[in-house]
Amino acid sequence: MFDKERFIEECKAAVGRKDAQAAIRELVARAVSDPKAVLRALGEPKRAGVETLYKADDLTILNLCWGPGMVFKPHDHRIWAVIGIYGGREDNTFFRRADGGGLKRHGVKELNEKDTIPLGAAIIHAVTNPLDRITGGIHVYGGDFFATPRSEWDPKTLKEQPYDVADTIRAFEASNSRLAPAR
Ligand SMILES: [Fe+2]
Repeated sequence: MFDKERFIEECKAAVGRKDAQAAIRELVARAVSDPKAVLRALGEPKRAGVETLYKADDLTILNLCWGPGMVFKPHDHRIWAVIGIYGGREDNTFFRRADGGGLKRHGVKELNEKDTIPLGAAIIHAVTNPLDRITGGIHVYGGDFFATPRSEWDPKTLKEQPYDVADTIRAFEASNSRLAPAR
């Protein structure tokens, strides 16, 4: 049974280990194997957005909800990550830096409920929620997700630029406008 506080404590204990990412993948896999329990603990997602469950220099745990139809531009993290989906679906497109600038697409991966994926620190990906409902995931990073400087790429020109937090907030807000109004 997923328990938020216990999950955080287990991640904190695992992050100092040599095999931290693999250990945390186990924890995330166990958590999302029971999506109903995660929903009970974190609440049914009502809006797109990012909820910080835990943040330290060496570990960030997010409850990240992609809005319906949300398309999120290519970006990197520069710290390793583990993503586990507890509701909905996210489609990942992976990129490599292209010779002479820009990006080259090199793979796609569809993540459904109960799926987990480890991402290396150098990974560059774009994420789409293809559904007309919210996709919820637990995202764990091996560092301070908010303080780590990183890059994003313009989705049209694929030009690299510093990650723009304000634009990320706008993207989540815009996807919320596609949600049915609360009654
Ligand atoms: Fe990402």
